Amino acid sequence: MPCAHKKRKLHRATAMAFQRLLPLVVLLLLVARPSSAVPSLHPVVLVPGNTCSQLEARLTDEYEPPPASGCGVPRQGRGWFRLWDNFTALQEDPSLFRCYADQLRLVYDPRAGDYRNVPGVKTRVVAFGTTRSFGSDDPSRKNVCMEGLVEALERVGYREGENLFGAPYDFRYAPAAPGLASRAFSGFSSSLRLLVERASQRNGNKPVVLVTHSLGGLFAAVFLDRTPLRWRRRYVKHLVMLCLGVGGSPLNMWPLASKALAANPTSLQAGVLTYGNRSFASMFSLLPSPRVYGRTPLVITRDRNYSADDMAEYLAAAGFSEDEVARYRTRALPVTLNLRAPLVPMTAMNGVGVPTVDKLVFWDANFSGKPKLVNGDGDGQINLETVLALQRLVGGDPDPPYFKSILVPNTTHKGMISDQSALKRVVSEILGASS
Ligand SMILES: *[C@@H]1O[C@H](CO)[C@@H](O)[C@H](O)[C@H]1NC(C)=O
Ligand SMILES: *[C@@H]1O[C@H](CO)[C@@H](O)[C@H](O)[C@H]1NC(C)=O
Ligand SMILES: *[C@@H]1O[C@H](CO)[C@@H](O)[C@H](O)[C@H]1NC(C)=O
Ligand SMILES: *[C@@H]1O[C@H](CO)[C@@H](O)[C@H](O)[C@H]1NC(C)=O
Ligand SMILES: *[C@@H]1O[C@H](CO)[C@@H](O)[C@H](O)[C@H]1NC(C)=O
Repeated sequence: MPCAHKKRKLHRATAMAFQRLLPLVVLLLLVARPSSAVPSLHPVVLVPGNTCSQLEARLTDEYEPPPASGCGVPRQGRGWFRLWDNFTALQEDPSLFRCYADQLRLVYDPRAGDYRNVPGVKTRVVAFGTTRSFGSDDPSRKNVCMEGLVEALERVGYREGENLFGAPYDFRYAPAAPGLASRAFSGFSSSLRLLVERASQRNGNKPVVLVTHSLGGLFAAVFLDRTPLRWRRRYVKHLVMLCLGVGGSPLNMWPLASKALAANPTSLQAGVLTYGNRSFASMFSLLPSPRVYGRTPLVITRDRNYSADDMAEYLAAAGFSEDEVARYRTRALPVTLNLRAPLVPMTAMNGVGVPTVDKLVFWDANFSGKPKLVNGDGDGQINLETVLALQRLVGGDPDPPYFKSILVPNTTHKGMISDQSALKRVVSEILGASS
């Protein structure tokens, strides 16, 4: 009897040990599964640019559609649908445009001290962890996002879900100054942290190469700045930042100002480009930094000029309310001013040689009109000034880890992730960072 008892106990202990080991066994089987991913590569996590993540939404009865729009639950149902962006749906039924534009808006909730969706609209980012949601079904948005880079990486041995991952995010939100609420950005940060850790574990604990484009670089830089240095050094092999400098560029002051375009967008794209009828938290994130431009006039009118230092006055002149201007000053500006070197090995790649706005002339101070553009150098969107400022910021760190800034001639903001010659350079930098 005691013997049998012992035996059963032993069995149970074995079974329990096996159960505990099961995840490990499964993991080993997964690892042992034949794979076409090249095993020596460090895993890559891609963080795309503005508007390059897909969003789904669903409506509840709380949703109050714009008057006479016909939007809402009776027409759109209660299930999840593709809110950003479903070009096909808008082609089939252009009247949906009004619905989507309204449902993409954010509102600021003073009680929570944070932005949120319009009441009755729930949203989620599609396919976090993968690069599957980087594309668009809109032919005019072909190659705007990282699809070409994904293909180029696959050609050199990267495989989705094995050593290639994507970190899409809700681009309507933005990181806020330390201490202020930004639930969306905090959620993104926790997800990205887990994704990086899992990508590393899946690849023999090799640290990850983070590759960002445009606004994704700001999200990644703030994310890194807010993770413990030990974590960064353990998990981040390299940051490859494409097409971003310090702060944004003067060009971003234009659509922001255009109330006319915001009220009557000609397409959902234009609508989103005017930042969800001027409601997105992120619209203030890539305004030119006072640290880069100081008192240099960026917007010129007959009676007065506006520099980065006068941004609050400019926003007020462009029709933003006192509360909105206050949110620029308290939430967005401190993030721009506090940008710091990420303290991980870093390569910045930026296009140059393309006419890039560095001043806007609204002579009659009609910000809804089309400004005369004064061009400088850059990639068509990101001005070279801000790239030089990045070189000073990161290169000027007293104890900089590896830092390289590459200026790619004749390459546009979008060309960096779609022109074959630029892609070749980008992939070669990623491979270099990965060895
Ligand atoms: C876009 O909308 C159409 C309906 O017009 C739907 O069939 C399709 O599944 C939607 N696309 C996505 C990605 O949800
Ligand atoms: C944008 O907001 C303004 C009020 O600020 C409103 O009059 C207009 O209808 C809105 N436009 C859209 C497309 O929602
Ligand atoms: C605005 O800036 C321009 C260009 O720097 C300068 O020529 C002009 O005098 C300035 N205008 C005012 C009103 O300060
Ligand atoms: C401002 O420019 C817009 C667009 O060109 C025009 O429709 C509007 O009438 C102008 N406003 C004034 C006050 O001139
Ligand atoms: C950039 O493009 C211009 C005009 O197309 C051309 O003249 C120039 O040689 C190009 N420069 C480089 C470095 O490719």
